[in-house]
Amino acid sequence: NPNYPKMEGSSGLQQVSCRAKGGAPGFKVAILGAAGGIGQPLAMLMKMNPLVSVLHLYDVVNSPGVTADISHMDTGAVVRCFLGQSQLEDALIGMDLVIIPAGVPRKPGMTRDDLFNINAGIVKTLCEGITKCCPNAIVNLISNPVNSTVPIAAEVFKKAGTYDPKRLLGVTMLVVVRANTFVAEVMGLDPREVEVPVVGGHAGVTILPLLSQVKPPCSFTPEETDYLTSRIQNGGTEVVEAKAGAGSATLSMAYAAVKFADACLRGLRGDASVIQCAFVASQVTELPFFASKVRLGRTGIDEIYPLGPLNEYERVGLEKAKKELAESIQKGVSFIKK
Ligand code: NAI
Repeated sequence: NPNYPKMEGSSGLQQVSCRAKGGAPGFKVAILGAAGGIGQPLAMLMKMNPLVSVLHLYDVVNSPGVTADISHMDTGAVVRCFLGQSQLEDALIGMDLVIIPAGVPRKPGMTRDDLFNINAGIVKTLCEGITKCCPNAIVNLISNPVNSTVPIAAEVFKKAGTYDPKRLLGVTMLVVVRANTFVAEVMGLDPREVEVPVVGGHAGVTILPLLSQVKPPCSFTPEETDYLTSRIQNGGTEVVEAKAGAGSATLSMAYAAVKFADACLRGLRGDASVIQCAFVASQVTELPFFASKVRLGRTGIDEIYPLGPLNEYERVGLEKAKKELAESIQKGVSFIKK
């Protein structure tokens, strides 16, 4: 019966695929780092997304178990397993969207920048695969430090002649998700109705929540502004410390990654007015990359929105953010150029 999950042996690897009846139309999505703390719940949530028809799960370890497990979910997407560097290219061929949560996470006392040396190399290798196998795919980069890994990816794509800035997006959705939650808590609102634009970058002071532009309009006391800004900037560290050595945010990150990936897929499908914040190549400031609101469309980013009016507190924050961000971007660029 072709509708039953099919187990195939392929180059010693157990391939698991389950074919949805009628072959539901949808997008092909690869997750690189699919067996990790973020990768596993992300794979599960993408298997539940009706816009996904094919889901490729790639990792250097443990992807067969994760794939077998997830393939038993009775949703439409066909799930396939890819294990180890030799299968990276097969994992990427024909993909519409590639989501990258591969790499090591923070431990207490570490900054995102401390991850640079290991994750920079991982992101470089994975992006080289993308240039060869799916140069037109939308790339959602989660691996930290995002402020540097996005410039690394851009340089790899430039080198290969496949760079399209509209298709490369650093995922900053988790800070937006946190900002919505924390603002809702303080104001006694339902978090589903709160929208906080978070701009700048994706680490410490580079994370700049624009509390003056919150929807629905809210006014905050100076104490509330300080408390919220600091909690949003340090939300990741809150989780790292609570996990006490067992990693950083994985479940809320998977939720945020799926919220963002779903927005990218709705854009690809042609839905109107799909707007999210992301860290992208940008002319909104003098820096080559910056996070701000973007509109997603059939070819990736259709429009990058300016920051809008900032209050004095935010203008000071912006200057601080730009200083640190410039260094992180440069660090990423020189990693590939040297
Ligand atoms: P993890 O260690 O649980 O999982 C990482 C996975 O990547 C592992 O399964 C590992 O085998 C895999 N991996 C390592 N090298 C690889 C390679 N060359 N190719 C493919 N896969 C490879 O880590 P976790 O918690 O899932 O975090 C992953 C990354 O996401 C980290 O860099 C972390 O800092 C970042 N992160 C980003 C956030 C964001 O908001 N953008 C939030 C939280 C984490």
